Amino acid sequence: MAIKKVGVVGCGLMGHGIVQVAAQGGFQVVALEAEQKFLDSGLGRIDKSLAKLAEKAAEKAVKEGKASAEDAKAKAAADAAATRARITGSTNKADLADCDLVIEAIVENLDVKKALFAELGKLCKPSTIFASNTSSFPIGEMGDASGRPQRMVGLHFFNPVQLMKLVEVVRTPKTADDVFADAMAFGKACGKAPVACKDTPGFVVNRLLVPYMVEAMKMLERGDASAEDIDTAMKFGCGYPMGPIELTDYVGLDTTLFIVEGWTKRYPNDPSFQVPALLKKKVDEKKLGRKSGEGFYKWEGDKRV
Ligand code: CAA
Ligand code: NAD
Repeated sequence: MAIKKVGVVGCGLMGHGIVQVAAQGGFQVVALEAEQKFLDSGLGRIDKSLAKLAEKAAEKAVKEGKASAEDAKAKAAADAAATRARITGSTNKADLADCDLVIEAIVENLDVKKALFAELGKLCKPSTIFASNTSSFPIGEMGDASGRPQRMVGLHFFNPVQLMKLVEVVRTPKTADDVFADAMAFGKACGKAPVACKDTPGFVVNRLLVPYMVEAMKMLERGDASAEDIDTAMKFGCGYPMGPIELTDYVGLDTTLFIVEGWTKRYPNDPSFQVPALLKKKVDEKKLGRKSGEGFYKWEGDKRV
């Protein structure tokens, strides 16, 4: 695989996780943010996550009788430190110029993403592969904007990136075979199970998942059941780890609204792509879910109150 150095644009909810799993996979990673305070916040989340994972790795090694508590702790801490040392933070796009792969994880707005790829197309070396972590927009349009559509793929990770095993690897009709193969190999090296997808709205997961979340919000709007009961029903009735209302809080109500509004605009006659009024109202009230401390539920950090 030709990929050694990776750039990640956006170090928010998804970006910080992508930076971390790439570094855990042995890649040198540049984490790029718009402002220093957002970068500090993203790198802080990585430090917390690495500490948590190190604690778990040490516990596991002791439980399996592979090392004493002291040795296991020291090894896990050394591994975490080595991962962290592969990450460099930056607010200067020029630092992406020599990356072999640049993954975009900024706001879910196609015009903003296209403008970024147009800029990256001029800035990065000709061999750089471009990838988007978009939840819903066409990868092909971003590839065209970059000026190198044959080197564009989708790398769609799942939230929380550190724990979710899947990455969807999206190829457009213009994606070169070697670029797609490198993207699949990169996903594997990050510890994920890559699946190949065509450039269709929502790829595999979101085409199924987002209409399900929308239906749950419409159910809540109609008063068919409470948020708690909808979530309990899907957890205990279907064995899902989270119900759809809690999951919407977890994803972010703003991101969910961007996804559904984008699809409504493009596919006005598709009944599964309709914006629930309740979602719009909550976002207008700045109740964005876990990230703002309140959505359908109240949150303290990563935990539901
Ligand atoms: N890094 C390291 N450790 C983490 C972590 C992170 N980012 N996030 C959680 N953990 C740890 C927790 O601290 C906790 O540790 P302890 O056991 O020591 O307390 C452990 O992982 C388990 O976490 P929780 O106690 O919070 O609870 P859980 O067992 O329910 O697991 C979950 C959490 C993995 C998120 C699980 O609830 C789950 O799978 N939820 C569904 C997530 C999902 O569907 N994601 C997809 C969203 S859609 C998407 O991503 C696509 C899109 O485009 C919108
Ligand atoms: P977020 O708001 O948490 O993070 C976006 C980050 O990008 C912010 O920190 C912001 O400062 C930064 N940013 C914006 N413009 C920038 C620029 N030009 N240069 C550098 N940094 C910039 O959003 P998120 O939830 O991490 O979503 C990011 C992308 O990932 C979106 O396309 C979203 O659809 C997709 N996605 C989200 C989820 C989810 O569950 N939230 C899951 C999979 C994919």
